[in-house]
Amino acid sequence: MRLTVNGIERELSTRPLDTLLNALREELGITSPKAGCQQGGCGACTVLIDGEPRRSCLTPLVAVDGATVTTVEALGEPGNLSPVQAAFYEQYGLQCGFCTPGFVLATTAMLERNANPSREQILEELVGHVCRCTGYVKIVAAVEAAARGDVSEAALEAGATGPSRREPEVLVPGSPA
Ligand code: FES
Ligand code: FES
Repeated sequence: MRLTVNGIERELSTRPLDTLLNALREELGITSPKAGCQQGGCGACTVLIDGEPRRSCLTPLVAVDGATVTTVEALGEPGNLSPVQAAFYEQYGLQCGFCTPGFVLATTAMLERNANPSREQILEELVGHVCRCTGYVKIVAAVEAAARGDVSEAALEAGATGPSRREPEVLVPGSPA
């Protein structure tokens, strides 16, 4: 099977009927698509296939032979986040982050199609994405901020130095940290 993943052509040896999720995680080491429910119900495994959000846990590799796959690794990087990533960061739209790649990709695709979505359209787009710890108020606020372009330069540059490098190192003898 051949795929273009995050702009790079890849020849995959994963079995054709195995899932795209397994191919990305296990063969290519791309771990932003998460193995959540693996039944199509949570959205944690979402990737963009030819620009559209799809559940990689339900997608046999053979069904996407020749396709273009995008994960959040291709959207931005520390210090140079995409506007959607920066909005989630700035609006506190995540806690553990397990669901976040799916939300970010679904939001990115939606804003490509519709730069000014209504609140109802946002909720409809994200209805299949489950977050178990942040709740949805801040996530929707992040999507609305991204749609408005209300994202600060500081947020776009988040992660450039990393909080661990800005904060004093605290060592507690015997701690598991
Ligand atoms: S892991 Fe694919 S939808 Fe939950
Ligand atoms: S941020 Fe933890 S599941 Fe959504």
